[in-house]
Amino acid sequence: MARVWSSVVVLVSCLSFVSVPQPVSSAVNIPATRDEVVASFQTWVEGVGAKHAAFEIAARTAGSIDDLSSKVGETVIVVDQSGTGNYKTINEAFNAVPLHNKNPITIKVNAGTYNERVVVPKSKWRITLQGAGRDVTKITSKSAAGETGTTYTTSTFGVSAPYFTARNISFENSSPPPNGGAQQQAVALRTTGDFNAFYGCAFYGQQDTLYDDRGRHYFKDTLVVGSVDFIFGDGKSLYKNCELRVLPSGGGSLTAQKRLSLSEDTGYSFVNCKVTGSGPATVYLGRAWGPYSRVVFAFTEFANIINPVGWYNWGDAAREGTVFYGQYKCFGPGANQANRASWSHELTDAQAAPFMSLGYIDGSLWVTGE
Ligand SMILES: *[C@@H]1O[C@H](CO)[C@@H](O)[C@H](O)[C@H]1NC(C)=O
Repeated sequence: MARVWSSVVVLVSCLSFVSVPQPVSSAVNIPATRDEVVASFQTWVEGVGAKHAAFEIAARTAGSIDDLSSKVGETVIVVDQSGTGNYKTINEAFNAVPLHNKNPITIKVNAGTYNERVVVPKSKWRITLQGAGRDVTKITSKSAAGETGTTYTTSTFGVSAPYFTARNISFENSSPPPNGGAQQQAVALRTTGDFNAFYGCAFYGQQDTLYDDRGRHYFKDTLVVGSVDFIFGDGKSLYKNCELRVLPSGGGSLTAQKRLSLSEDTGYSFVNCKVTGSGPATVYLGRAWGPYSRVVFAFTEFANIINPVGWYNWGDAAREGTVFYGQYKCFGPGANQANRASWSHELTDAQAAPFMSLGYIDGSLWVTGE
């Protein structure tokens, strides 16, 4: 993965997040209701942001970008299938971005279904992919691990670069639903770059739809459709106001987070999200792909499709003592915690707070607009 951090920053960042989440700061008020989460979010960002001033200075010294909000020198490339833009395919537009790019570039993709597979390489920074709306601009392909050899290489769209943003566009892997056979993983989007953000997007797939692989990521107002392990990997991500739409599969899991050790600072946090779908109440909130897997759902509404036990240890009881799984003020028929695994938590205010703001993903360093 592209590392924009100096080793000093990585060390500091590891030390400040041990397995048990620490309270953010006593100055930050914890919202009591779901409505207040929305209202207070910006205040939280400011409060938590102050804590990260030291990170910010270190990151800038390490050579990352001075002013991410600056549009000076921005280039706009238009993709249109009918030929009225600069290019007819998304790949041509990405190919036109010079290697080692650090200038802001927006690739606008007009309405259409683009049958392509794209990889944004590590060295092409600061690209924004802007669709005309997630219902009208779609990039799609069809490949499962059985064909490409690995899950990683199945992605319709793969991001290895830092500072990548996508808005109002959908990504699909149209592989058929898994039928119990091997190698049916089929990724719609992989994000392996640090500081990647997705606003108003949609990801469509079945097994392994969203490979939230590595780095700090922000997903907002985004739809994720899938069945088995459909958000998975070792990223550190905040999902805000997102919908997770479950396709019936006779089981499955919303997440498979892969945090590997106590010193690793990753995990998924879902705030103010909605889990929808139909079928039996057999879907896990998470399965422990990594022994220190970390997943929190806060203020999230669950349809009646959640396995009452909630969480699965991936067949390894030792993981029950090392994972960190929790709910905070969730609601809806699938939220009932009466029969949840004894090793999962209803979080206290102080435990939940660090997971519920942009501070969780060091947003003050890089999130430039909502
Ligand atoms: C783009 O996404 C935002 C959410 O991030 C949404 O409010 C807006 O309506 C979308 N615009 C279009 C054209 O789809």
